Amino acid sequence: MLEDTSFAIHPGTEKQNEAAAYHDIGSVIDQEKVDDTYHFTCENGRIAICFYTDSIVRIVMNPKEAPKMKGSRSVIPEPKHVEVREEITSDLHLLHTAKLRLSISKSPFRMNIFDQEGKELVAEGEHGMAWRESGEIAVFKEMDVADHFYGFGEKAGFLDKRGEVYEMWNTDVYAPHNPETDPLYESIPFFMTLRKGKAHGIFFDNSYRSWFDMRSFGDRYAYRAEGGELDYYVMAGPGPKEVVYQYTYLTGRMPLPPKWAIGYHQSRYSYQTEQEVRTIVQNFIDRDIPLDVVHLDIHYMNGYRVFTFDEENFPNPEQLIKDLREMGVRVVPIVDPGVKKDPEYPVYQEGVNKDLFCKYLEGDIYFGDVWPGTSAFPDFTDEESRTWWAEKHRFYTDIGIEGIWNDMNEPAVFNETKTMDVQVMHRNDGSPATHRELHNLYGLLMGKATYEGLKDQLNGRRPFLLTRAGFAGIQRYAAVWTGDNRSFWEHLQMSLPMVMNLGLSGVAFTGPDVGGFAHHTNGELLARWTQVGAFTPFFRNHSAIGFLYQEPWRFGERYEAVIKEYIRMRYRWMPQFYSLFAKASKQGLPVMRPLFMEFPDDEKTYNLNDQFMIGDNVIIAPILAPAVVDRAVYLPEGEWIEAASGKVYQGKQTYLIHAELEDLPLFIKKGTAVMQTEWTSNQDKSWKRVSMDIYAGEDEERYRFTYYDDDGETFAYQHGSYLELEVEIVSTKTAVNVEIVNRNGDYVPAYGQIDVQVIGRKDGQDVIINGDKMNGSNYLSLAE
Ligand code: GLC
Repeated sequence: MLEDTSFAIHPGTEKQNEAAAYHDIGSVIDQEKVDDTYHFTCENGRIAICFYTDSIVRIVMNPKEAPKMKGSRSVIPEPKHVEVREEITSDLHLLHTAKLRLSISKSPFRMNIFDQEGKELVAEGEHGMAWRESGEIAVFKEMDVADHFYGFGEKAGFLDKRGEVYEMWNTDVYAPHNPETDPLYESIPFFMTLRKGKAHGIFFDNSYRSWFDMRSFGDRYAYRAEGGELDYYVMAGPGPKEVVYQYTYLTGRMPLPPKWAIGYHQSRYSYQTEQEVRTIVQNFIDRDIPLDVVHLDIHYMNGYRVFTFDEENFPNPEQLIKDLREMGVRVVPIVDPGVKKDPEYPVYQEGVNKDLFCKYLEGDIYFGDVWPGTSAFPDFTDEESRTWWAEKHRFYTDIGIEGIWNDMNEPAVFNETKTMDVQVMHRNDGSPATHRELHNLYGLLMGKATYEGLKDQLNGRRPFLLTRAGFAGIQRYAAVWTGDNRSFWEHLQMSLPMVMNLGLSGVAFTGPDVGGFAHHTNGELLARWTQVGAFTPFFRNHSAIGFLYQEPWRFGERYEAVIKEYIRMRYRWMPQFYSLFAKASKQGLPVMRPLFMEFPDDEKTYNLNDQFMIGDNVIIAPILAPAVVDRAVYLPEGEWIEAASGKVYQGKQTYLIHAELEDLPLFIKKGTAVMQTEWTSNQDKSWKRVSMDIYAGEDEERYRFTYYDDDGETFAYQHGSYLELEVEIVSTKTAVNVEIVNRNGDYVPAYGQIDVQVIGRKDGQDVIINGDKMNGSNYLSLAE
């Protein structure tokens, strides 16, 4: 192919100034307010503006007619009635809420948005909203020299996306995954801008193929989409956390996962027989390595037909699942969307007879090649197909399965375009539209069908769903793993910013294949990767057919010991993780965060790619290269205690930290606490003892956090059966004061009390719990 040779940079192939080819929206001709929506008729298009909260405004432009404001399916809430003060002058139209000020100049229509302090968030200059005859819509915004960009869902490359161009089009990319490989499996057309410590967000609710360009237009950035309305939301922030909160207010938050889903998962493409699965699990038991889930990849099926088991290799799945469950392990099978074209296969028969597959306008079913060969694809855009698919999962839930792994749901098809024909006409719940428009929603809607089906069938137990493809809002249904990476150190490195940006894009439950999927891993890489995996929200070791097996024990005793230690560490940190997941489910905040989220005024954190935070007080600086045992670690403001050594480091400095293969540099902010438990056994993973490990401060440090617990597997928490403690810790020269400021919920865990351990306590410092001076054994009783 010519594009793969130097011909690609032949003179004369450079892009022209793209902005020139657009029709500008032009000047305002007419304006009116209908209910709570402000309408502007301009020379070249119509605009509607409405508020969702006083911090969130929606702007919709349609080149030809009044905006339909349909949205994609990502946004859940309706606009709220917001107090808006309107001011109209001859050339300006001003709309103020308590948090935002929109200033619209009328000739031509340009909109600038300011925060409550009058700081400009979003500005249009020479160019604003525009469109092309092809149906493409676009908007150009000014780019401040101080702007840094984050989010955009699942993207390769570094944390800060300034200077990048990204495409939104869910794509199955087996190889390569380079810093420039784009697009990948998930499309989330949302980003956050950080400018001098303040953040705001923009979400483009358009499912067509679209692009963000922070590179090509000098001091402007652009968003454009192949079709549809220009429909976007501006979120006021003012900090990165508020932006994620606002974005997930719109697109939803993750359901609280069952505890088992945040444990360790072991997978392989594929464990090919029941016996192999049993042997793998038995190894975990015998070696006392924690394991919650084993995944079944495509070989469990009969000829890759979904909703079947291969009778020879998996003769008795129900017994298998039951036996593993007794060992403390659950089974999560893969389910792809492609249904094999086979007239003797009941699922295919039903899909055809009930008219549930994706079709062309003319009525022919669309067929594409995937693992089973020629296959049809359920039309998840339609309720009837979703309900059918959901019901089909009884095949799994009836035999004790509580989690499903959705793959190839971009949808991937083995052809030149890698996906379904864009001319397929989806039913789309009564508003038919082509695959060109709905492609990016296919994975999201498969997720919706699957999650809702499982939830229905599990008699009050929480389902777990893992997905490869998705769109804005996917967090409502599924955890996301980052697809087919390789056993390269570079892919371990790239996974950190990728997972952090996914977290900023509303997807808190995410992680890469630990150890690398394709290519051959080795003991050192697997050990270092497991150290990271122990702290990424989703923690699964998965490897591909044809490459070395990479279970924890495959590379000899030294590596096994390290890997085991870190998987166990994950389980010791479970109470901390679970509380952070609870926060993600309530406020949308990511579990794993870039440092700038907590230190937005510290420029050194703006593109810090090789360190991350768990919650707001723990920094992890893993080793990400072979044979390295020393690395630079930047610690932001505050004092930081290295967990392993107890050594205290002053913040705002960079240190050279030593870490042998056995070590993971992990720092806890002085004056704060983490919740821990002890690893017991695979068969009984309930927490026997929970401790609050306080890293004593002495200089009036004040720290508040929320500890959350419940039964870990049912929805009883939605009816009050949970424990939520809001804890405040104040350290002074004479005391470490621990106070429960608030307690909610009526769940009393079996462990009955929380042991309070104060680390680094100075002579003369007392421990005071809820006002009582403690001597010797310190604990907080949970009895009511
Ligand atoms: C895809 C998935 C991978 C899976 C394989 C076989 O490549 O990304 O995780 O193992 O298909 O199902």
